[in-house]
Amino acid sequence: MAISFCKEKKVFKLDTEQTSYIFCVSDNDFIEHLYYGKRINDVDVKSISNRQIYSFGAKEQESSRDFSIGTVLHELSVASCGDLRIPSVIIDFNGESVSNRFRYRAHKVYKGRKAINGLPYSRDNGSCETLQVELENDANTVRILLYYTVYERENVICRYVELVNKTLPCIYLEKAASVCIDFYGCDYDLITLEGMYLCERSKIQRTPLRKGFQGNASIVGASSHHTNPFFALCSKNADENLGETYGFNIVYSGNFKNEIEVDRLCDTRVVCGINDVGFRWKLRRGERFETPEVVMTFSDEGVGGMSRNMHDHIRNNIIERRYAFCKRPIVINSWEATYFDVTENKLLSLAKSAKECGVDTVVLDDGWFRKNDKSGLGDFFVDKEKFPSGLKKLSEDIHSLGLNFGIWLEPEMAAIESEFYKNHERNILSTESKPLVYRNQFLIDLTLDENVEKIKNRISAELADVKIEYIKWDCNRYLNEASSKNSPQGEVFHRQMLGVYKLLDGIKKNFPDAMIETCSGGGGRFDPGMLYYSPQIWASDNTDPFARIYIEYGTSLAYPKSTVSCHFSEGVCTSGRRSSYDFRYIVASFGPFGYELDLSKYPKEDLEKFKEYSLKYRENEKIMLEGDLYRLISPESDEFCSYIEVSKDKTRALFSFIEINTTGHTESTVVRLKGLAADKLYKNESTGQILTGAALMNVGIRVGDLFKEKGGSGRQILFSAQSDNIENKKEY
Ligand code: DGJ
Repeated sequence: MAISFCKEKKVFKLDTEQTSYIFCVSDNDFIEHLYYGKRINDVDVKSISNRQIYSFGAKEQESSRDFSIGTVLHELSVASCGDLRIPSVIIDFNGESVSNRFRYRAHKVYKGRKAINGLPYSRDNGSCETLQVELENDANTVRILLYYTVYERENVICRYVELVNKTLPCIYLEKAASVCIDFYGCDYDLITLEGMYLCERSKIQRTPLRKGFQGNASIVGASSHHTNPFFALCSKNADENLGETYGFNIVYSGNFKNEIEVDRLCDTRVVCGINDVGFRWKLRRGERFETPEVVMTFSDEGVGGMSRNMHDHIRNNIIERRYAFCKRPIVINSWEATYFDVTENKLLSLAKSAKECGVDTVVLDDGWFRKNDKSGLGDFFVDKEKFPSGLKKLSEDIHSLGLNFGIWLEPEMAAIESEFYKNHERNILSTESKPLVYRNQFLIDLTLDENVEKIKNRISAELADVKIEYIKWDCNRYLNEASSKNSPQGEVFHRQMLGVYKLLDGIKKNFPDAMIETCSGGGGRFDPGMLYYSPQIWASDNTDPFARIYIEYGTSLAYPKSTVSCHFSEGVCTSGRRSSYDFRYIVASFGPFGYELDLSKYPKEDLEKFKEYSLKYRENEKIMLEGDLYRLISPESDEFCSYIEVSKDKTRALFSFIEINTTGHTESTVVRLKGLAADKLYKNESTGQILTGAALMNVGIRVGDLFKEKGGSGRQILFSAQSDNIENKKEY
């Protein structure tokens, strides 16, 4: 049983393999948080107390100095209930004055979990368990349900909240966060993934918590290039290997807010979920609102342990099972080869060269229904001048080469010269009759179901007879003007997101054999919400390998490698810097691999080299899809970046070493490997040397002794466990 309830003390204990999460029903029926961290024994539950002093906080009885709403640790905090810290829920009772004190009414525990209406969420894996705690305000007019689903193996607890207007004619939710959790003390560092277009998630920020408010948020209608819904709190001494680390992420792709407040008593409140900026949701009598889900994990194996929990959870429970551990297409994507200038002939010649490189899927990127960014979006009619034989024939020709066919879509947008835009001005999200311009395109108002249907049907009709195995789903504009003629202002951001998810669902149903890779002007929507629909996401438009090292490293804090789509490209598109093929390959093999350059211009020897890369990627792909990732050297060292991925059974490990700057001591630098089995013998497949896991992890090994070839800015080797064991190995 992952979830237990101590009747005597009214304490809930949620256990995963390594963690415990504990809260109770306090004397006056508030829900009081007690503990989250390393797993503790059930026998201790009765004696846990984390109650803070009274300290100028409101209390319910004058006589009691023990319990103050303003200082105890909470699991939910409704504004104006007497708590003095940031609330997780704000309700406007339509101007009426109604009690905001929510008290425990009932709870139930069940196997599995419920779906969250219209939103992505962690899937029912057959063994998860859910605790549902029901609270009501004193007037019994509003009900709040707190959901906790426990994923034992992954050490993850997922939380969301449901708010129900039971009896009032109308109330407004002004804030509806998914998680409120109070930590005793504030001795933590906060880690967030900041960035911008072309360097998404590459600026890892680690700062000590300070008194007052801190956190990160997005208000652009997408999880954004600038930051990410993921964050971590870790003890000050936490490094990659040791130290307490809490990880949080939101299964949502729109506006989010992670608030961390260190209060006057030096306790730490965490509130996360949907952003309340621009949010005001009307609930009529009987209506309910379900928040997005937040994934929480804890590890005492440092930031690395936290990441591995997150990786396991995303792969096991968020990504669709049929893709999670299956080999991914090796694509050639037309974008950086042709940009808008793509034609039938160019794509076919790209396909022919790609075939020689071990590619298996040809992706027709932007340009198949337009010549530039002013038209086509919203209408999605193939450009007959560029593709005179049509897409059905093109796909057949590509299939006859033994390759699969993929296509680019940007279904959420209408271009300025499109028919959709001309005829449906009311159906564009904008505050003015002349909306703000951004890449000549506008957001279709997907808060209206009719538009979701219209776009789904148009795309499905255009591609009905085309055999498609892969869809690249792009989104190149933020929600700059959250105003709709069809939905109330305070509901636009969230309703638009629900519309996007509905459209994703609809397109998936109509193209059941096509795997979707999402993208948003590069990596502007890299979040667990998107991963529910697409097992991999285009990480960035920046394919310069030097820049990608940082993007990949930052992304790996929260997301498994199998989700980070990476392409081997000219590598000069943004910086003008050039780099070797091997270096570009090593960096691009960080995740699902592909090519993004005009292969038809390359000589045969190069195509053969590329084929070697495709084969090498395939050989190592299984470890990438299933293994545990250990970050060995951070690129922030300014010298090297290094990883090792180890298969779950610890029989194979892939070691990657990248030199960022030329140093005089590269070959003599000692690297200590991680994650191997101490008592297994491992063969270095490059040098043939056999060493124990214990030696490789503790003594370490010089870079120069790891590889047969010396030098090279990107190097990779495989270690394979030998059937021999240490006892049989006599020679010293
Ligand atoms: C932005 C994407 O990130 C690129 O890969 C490409 O698909 C372009 N959009 C096409 O407009």
